[in-house]
Amino acid sequence: MQQQLDAFFRPRSVAVIGASTKKGTIGRETVRNMLLAEFNGKVFPVNPKASVILSIKAYSTILDVPDAVDLAIVIVPKDHVKEVVAQCGEKGVKGVVVISAGFSEVGREGRKREQEVLKVVREYGMRMIGPNCFGIVNTHPDVCLNATFGKTYPMPGRIGFITQSGAMGEAIVNVAHDLGIGFSIVASIGNKADISSNDLLEYLKTDPDTDMILMYLENFGNPRNFTKIAREVVRFKPIVAVKSGRTKLGAKAASSHTGALAGLDVGVDALLEQTGVMRVDTVEELFDVAQAMTYQPLPKGNRVAVVTNAGGPGILATDALIANGMEMPSLSAATVKKLKKHISAEASFANPMDMVAGAGGREFRITLEALKNDRKYDAIVPIFVPPITIDQIEVAECIADGLAGTDKTVLACFMGVGLESAGMDQLRKRGIPAYIFPEAAAKTLSNMYKYRERMLHPRGKVRTYKVDMEKVERIVAEARDSGSDSIVGEPAIDILRAYGISAAPYRYASSAEQAVKAATALGYPVVMKINTPPILHKTEVGGVMVDLRTDKEVRSAFRTLRNRIEEHGEEGDFSVAMQKMITGGIETVMGMSTDPQFGPLIMFGLGGIYVEVMKDVSFRILPLTDQGARDMIRSLRSFPLLNGFRGAPAANQEVLVETLLRLSQLVRDFHCFSEIDINPFIASPDKKDCAAVDARFIIRPTNDQ
Ligand SMILES: Nc1ncnc2c1ncn2[C@@H]1O[C@H](COP(=O)(O)OP(=O)(O)O)[C@@H](O)[C@H]1O
Ligand SMILES: [Mg+2]
Repeated sequence: MQQQLDAFFRPRSVAVIGASTKKGTIGRETVRNMLLAEFNGKVFPVNPKASVILSIKAYSTILDVPDAVDLAIVIVPKDHVKEVVAQCGEKGVKGVVVISAGFSEVGREGRKREQEVLKVVREYGMRMIGPNCFGIVNTHPDVCLNATFGKTYPMPGRIGFITQSGAMGEAIVNVAHDLGIGFSIVASIGNKADISSNDLLEYLKTDPDTDMILMYLENFGNPRNFTKIAREVVRFKPIVAVKSGRTKLGAKAASSHTGALAGLDVGVDALLEQTGVMRVDTVEELFDVAQAMTYQPLPKGNRVAVVTNAGGPGILATDALIANGMEMPSLSAATVKKLKKHISAEASFANPMDMVAGAGGREFRITLEALKNDRKYDAIVPIFVPPITIDQIEVAECIADGLAGTDKTVLACFMGVGLESAGMDQLRKRGIPAYIFPEAAAKTLSNMYKYRERMLHPRGKVRTYKVDMEKVERIVAEARDSGSDSIVGEPAIDILRAYGISAAPYRYASSAEQAVKAATALGYPVVMKINTPPILHKTEVGGVMVDLRTDKEVRSAFRTLRNRIEEHGEEGDFSVAMQKMITGGIETVMGMSTDPQFGPLIMFGLGGIYVEVMKDVSFRILPLTDQGARDMIRSLRSFPLLNGFRGAPAANQEVLVETLLRLSQLVRDFHCFSEIDINPFIASPDKKDCAAVDARFIIRPTNDQ
């Protein structure tokens, strides 16, 4: 793969097929960009009608090019792409970037066209980026490849940028340029018919010129792969992604547990965050973070000092910082003492430190120098609102001087000067990112802080327990043989037990007398549930009788259940299943549901009445680690209920963690389940009183694994 992608990003020769002599066309702009970037290789324009394009010799087809060609940029009309790509194959080209549009993005016809092109690509063992993309860039001085039709050749830098949208890609490159953000590699992946963002992530992971990866995503081709790869990549370099949208899985997952949870959805962001990706909400935030991370270290903590020459922005910054989980401790006495010697007494020596309107470069320098040495802070936000009388550039210089050599994170704010102010430029030149609004600086700082926290947070271990897989295989096969798409009752309990999940065993009875015997064997109190005919949601038909304490109650419960079944017009044998009644615990629900995008997700929440009221469940992508399971439990809003609310003893969390891990192992081992529902798993303080009392497995149709 590495080598294959090198053909794209480090080609020795590039053919531009569909190069044009006509000004303003993509075909001409692309050739022009190749030349302007001073590409360190050969460029071959291909056009059947022109002999020269932009002073270089053109060829009528790629087959006429006398040299070997590594990379072809294809810009011909959609109906010619297939033929041109076949010629590339004949020529021995290794990679094609198809900029032409009119493929799967336009519907069925286009999808067919795309498949045909892809087939040709595969036949010749080539790789393809696109179609319907904006092109690719590598700014490395040895390469200088600008195979795009964009207006801006990005500044060299250490950010790799993967974009799904060509238009957004171009816009982002343009704005980044103005903000002084440089890129190592830019790849617009378009329809991702062949090469995906996952492939590029892996490539950028090992690219020595890339320190950070930005992604603009619209959808996930293969989120399961994405999460796996991203998890690995973030161990080496940060990934910042803008991807909005929420996934429907939550709604489905939750509704399968109790109808009342329908409508709940789970943020893609939450799932992305589990992979360690820094997810931002908007493209603007993407820039904000990119700029900050280009110049500044991650903050070591969340304590921020704000210094300003105007009260309003100071308050805005404070509100935004606090709302985003940062802290603003007051200045230390020593710092105040130092400052009072130099700064006007009208200033407020607090945090935010408002030096009032007269303050200029000198005041900023002195104050920032003092704060730089104040151990109470991890980050500093200087905010300057330039009056006309004060020279912006000078203030920028003073801010940079005052903060020189600091290891604190510094994000500055120059308000009301526009994106391209001389002062902001000067700050960036000195390695200080500058923002127009204090909220942006605050949000960025908080994004960076949270990201660092997450990275430092232990990932935990995936555990593998000794289990009885064969038993589960047998149970699934039996269910399939009997034509059933779900497993309930005893076989469901047996699956749990095969995976070492504590589950209350059943005893069966098909007469009142047998029921009494079973109850005596189990020990009172007991629970009685309808067993046959099998029913998915027993409580809904009044099919569960709890807390039966005497023989008499057992007999009467048996009759009641039989009557209810008869009222329901259910035919066939009648029998009940009985369990020991588990008391003194809290009902939790655990499960798995399959998200169309992310694949299987493990779910945990409080069961019983709580789950319906609170809609309080958490989801995790696989593989689940012990730390992940712990976080999952602790992230519930209702966690205090599990943790010993009002003097009640806490539920045994280690049992919950282990049960979730065993469930996750079951999900890893068996892809045949589309849904698993353990509801309830009763969590008690004592390990021996913790048990699942009901479970349900939905089996995927065989052709749909
Ligand atoms: N062995 C048991 N010990 C304590 N409570 C139980 C037991 N079995 C069932 N329950 C209670 O009865 C409820 C319904 O039983 P369950 O077997 O989950 O049936 P269903 O989910 O099909 O309605 C459970 O949520 C739980 O509150
Ligand atoms: Mg249940």
